[in-house]
Amino acid sequence: MYNAFVLFGATGDLAQHKLWPALYWLVAEGQLLDIPFIVCVGRRKISQADYEAFIKKSVMTSVGSTFTTSIWDSLMRHMRYESGLFEDPGLYARVSTMLSDEEKSRGSASVHFFYLAVPPVHYDTILHNLDTAKLSGKHAADAANSARLLIEKPFGNDLATSQHLENVVSSLFNEKQIYRIDHYLGKQTVQNILALRFANGIVEPTWNHTFVDHVQIQLLEKDNVTVRGAFYDGVGALRDVVQNHMLQMLAFVAMEQPKSFNAEHLREARISAMAAITPVSINDVPTHVVRGQYIGYTDEKDVAKNSQTETFVAMKVGLHTPRWQGVPFYLRTGKSMSTSVAEISLHYKKPVVCTGPLCLFPEPQVKRNVLTIRISPDHGIGVRLMGKKAGPGMDLEPLAMEEMQQPGRSRKAAYERLILDALRGDQTLFADSREVDLSWRFSTQIFDGWKMRQPPLFPYTQHSMGPSAADELLLADDRTWYLHDA
Ligand code: BG6
Repeated sequence: MYNAFVLFGATGDLAQHKLWPALYWLVAEGQLLDIPFIVCVGRRKISQADYEAFIKKSVMTSVGSTFTTSIWDSLMRHMRYESGLFEDPGLYARVSTMLSDEEKSRGSASVHFFYLAVPPVHYDTILHNLDTAKLSGKHAADAANSARLLIEKPFGNDLATSQHLENVVSSLFNEKQIYRIDHYLGKQTVQNILALRFANGIVEPTWNHTFVDHVQIQLLEKDNVTVRGAFYDGVGALRDVVQNHMLQMLAFVAMEQPKSFNAEHLREARISAMAAITPVSINDVPTHVVRGQYIGYTDEKDVAKNSQTETFVAMKVGLHTPRWQGVPFYLRTGKSMSTSVAEISLHYKKPVVCTGPLCLFPEPQVKRNVLTIRISPDHGIGVRLMGKKAGPGMDLEPLAMEEMQQPGRSRKAAYERLILDALRGDQTLFADSREVDLSWRFSTQIFDGWKMRQPPLFPYTQHSMGPSAADELLLADDRTWYLHDA
């Protein structure tokens, strides 16, 4: 038995910048000893040699000086490029022939992996054509070892479209065959939250409302939308990263201890956490959610001149679980920010806050302890503790504390992990249909609030920290946004 990959969208951004570099590293690091047969499907009419040259360029850029031609050649020996239109049944017949020819020449059956690295508008067409060409394998005796579907977010555009997509996908594939990719689940540090929480005696007992004042989850990006205007303008920050990556991070922080780290238990724990998020009511949307658009966004390539798409979102949400009662979670994300960073921080309550002569450390000297989990650009965990300022007296200052770095490589390896897990048949780090449904329910209510209550779309200066309304959201609660290195 060997693996055969069919990559739809082979000339796209994702294939170029994430999937091919990930495949390269998997081979280079000896994690993919049996290189899969890889059929690359793209709409561009180019030859196999041209495709190889095209993809090699971006892999070389991504890998840098360690790029090794022999590794690349070993991958390319298993690659075929096939151009065609996703609507054309002939394309699927050709792919099917390629897969069975390969099986004949190897004298062995293969597990087929269909990777949809295409905009979601093509999902329906591709899925139905796979089914018509009898490639979905749903009715095979062992469906999960016959074919697997890897599908990228966004799964739909709102609750209704995601439910439609879910119906299509589940009518053609069994849940055991479906791998819904949210690459934040593949990030080492996101998984490390579980180790940090459940393997440390100083952490888990304090990971609750008794000790934690509030939580911040931020995914800030310096880049503008660059060449992705056509995609981004139809999506916006809420759909692009909040509905998926940020709610997944929130689930890891908020979940109860899973019974084990197997797929079923970990998914159950994430689902319960997501189900516990208190929906932002339509009436609360204007006060709990801030949206913004960077100045100049509408001049970007492929962006509508009158676009109302948000490039920034900040919000305050709560969770109705005993662990988190009364603890706000603040989320902030944006393009064209002054820095690129993804981090989660837990802000601990201050020790007794006091004034007057009997007070050892009067306000405002004492700052909250902060436990930061840095996801990118580097990964690590940092703690802000208060200490005594050098010199006479007993004044306080935050201790300059080195971040506790994750040992090992710092390269972003989320896609490597996810590809490997899919090949092994491990669904733990892939989103379950119920998680997708819950996160769309939450997000769609905010879209509805925007539609019905029409709150302002605040303009903000490029490469800034977003509109001041986002700062006011926290100031109203006597809190401020925090970044570990700022
Ligand atoms: C993607 C979004 O899912 O995640 C992008 O579509 C965003 O807009 C990216 O830039 C962020 O991922 P990472 O791994 O670069 O933090």
